[in-house]
This record gives sequence, structure tokens and C-alpha cells, in this order.
Amino acid sequence: MAIELQWEIPMPEDMDGLEALLDRVAEACFEAEGIRGAGFGVQIVDDEAIRALNRDTRDNDSITDVLSFPTVAYPAGKTARDCPRRLAREFDPSMGCANLGDCVINLNRARQQAEAYGHSLKRELSYLTAHSAFHLMGYDHMNEEEKREMRKMEERALGTIGITRQECDISDVRLFELACEAMQMSYSPYSHFKVGACILAEDGRTFKGCNFENASYGATICAERCAAGNAISSGVRRFKAIAVVGSTAVAWPCGICRQVLREFSDTSLPVIVGQFGKGYTVKTLGELLPEGLTPEDLGVDTKID
Ligand code: THU
Repeated sequence: MAIELQWEIPMPEDMDGLEALLDRVAEACFEAEGIRGAGFGVQIVDDEAIRALNRDTRDNDSITDVLSFPTVAYPAGKTARDCPRRLAREFDPSMGCANLGDCVINLNRARQQAEAYGHSLKRELSYLTAHSAFHLMGYDHMNEEEKREMRKMEERALGTIGITRQECDISDVRLFELACEAMQMSYSPYSHFKVGACILAEDGRTFKGCNFENASYGATICAERCAAGNAISSGVRRFKAIAVVGSTAVAWPCGICRQVLREFSDTSLPVIVGQFGKGYTVKTLGELLPEGLTPEDLGVDTKID
């Protein structure tokens, strides 16, 4: 076994076979890296435990999805394949292989992410394990280049065993349905016009939003900006599509929302707009906002921030 799975919380019912699956994931990662005879521990914990660990070890008092604790100190720019002797030093007789460290996964976050991606919990746990495996092999994602390289390795490894974090686009129909679900949460006691939105992020996750009004009318936030806020605060920076639905009329995005979408999207962004129970049409953001102001117009490279 390349991994040692430990449940720090009660194991949910549908988790039979998880250890074998994560073992295959770990082996696939080692193979993609080109190393043998390695292993690591996988601990499954909850929100509170990962938060405490994050606080105590990283000085970061927040809940996260996965934390990795490598045993090997890799020289800058090097990964496991470049350091066979350092790996050999970590040989652990009880594991019968080199112990690369620990991967700690938060089950609560994994569940939420599985739902946001529309795939199974086991698939999300596989992805998080692979992500951690590459951290334990010296990969990181501090800048765009590193991030791309790490992502490429994860995909290569998971691809060989037929598991990927689903990045396939969900359909317009489904995105519109999710916007309809979000619409039910609308707080609109003044206009009685409920609006729901759902953004598809570049990484496949979806983020809902609804309009919420205010006694001081101008303080109202539209559904699209609510969804955008949800996406941005989860680390998303590029949008792939948005669906918007109105309860009693087609909810054409207002000017401010069009401009806000432009900040995080190309003009090719599909904007799926409709009325509840009456279907939708699809326009591009460029059609709705042909001359939007962009970060580039201000000479800002948003990839830096
Ligand atoms: N509204 C949105 O949520 N999105 C738009 O782009 C258009 C307008 C909301 C704001 C307000 O709560 C209600 O619709 C009536 O203007």
C-alpha cells in the first residue's frame, strides 16, 4: 500500500473501497513523477481539526480543503524525481517504503467541493489526494507557471486511471436550472422581482447568487454581482458562463453587472438570460457590453494580483 488511510472522524457509510482507490491515485502520481517505493499518510478530518492544524502550523486561522506536510526538503526548483537520495533517507520500515509525509483532508470541504463540481465525493477525495501527493513531491503553486506545471502533473496522473476533476462544461440548461434555484432565495420585498444567477467558473465550479434589496433602494445588490462575489471569495478569477433568470420578466443584466462581469470574463462569455418557466436566450457579453472598460485599458495585469 502506498498510502495509510486514517479516519480521524467517523467514516461515512459510502466510503468502502476508498483506501484502495486512493492507493491507486498515489501510485499513479508516483508513476507520473517517475519515482518508486514511496508512500504517505492520508488523514481525514473535519472543519475544526483542519482549521486548528492550519492555525498551528501555518499561522492561518481558516478552514481549508487539504493540507500537505512533506518530510523531504526539496531544493528550490527540484521535485522528487531529482532527489532519490533524499527520498531513500525517508525509508520507513513500518511502511516498507519512503514516507513522503502526510496529506490531511477536510471531509466537510471535500463534500462541498464535490457538490460544486457536480461529481462524487470519492472523486473529489481522489483529486485532493493527488494534489497533496504532488505537494509531497516538491510541487507548489505560488505563481502561474508553477500552478500550470502542478495542474499538468495532476491531470496526467489522474488521467491514467480515468479520474479527473471534472472540468467539462455543464450544459446551459443545467446552469439555468441552478440560476432558478438561486432565484428562490431572492430578497426583494420592494420590487417583488426575484432574480437568480449562476456563474460557471473556469475550473468547473458553479456559484449561485440572488438579488437582495435594501430600504435604501440604491444599496440593492443584483443577483449577478452576488454570484460574482461568491465566486471571487472562493478564489475564482475567470468566469466561463453565467445564467440569469427573472421571476416575472427576462432578467437582462443591468449596466453595472455587465461591467462587473467584464472584469472577470472575455467578451465571448455566454450570458444565458431568461424568465422563470419560459426558457432562455444566449448572448455573449460582447453583445451586451461592446465597449466595456478592462483592466488592460488601465495598464493592469490582473495575473499579478
Ligand atoms: N436586478 C438584478 O438582480 N439583476 C439585474 O441585472 C437587473 C436588476 C434586481 C435588482 C432589484 O432587486 C430588482 O432586480 C429590480 O430592479
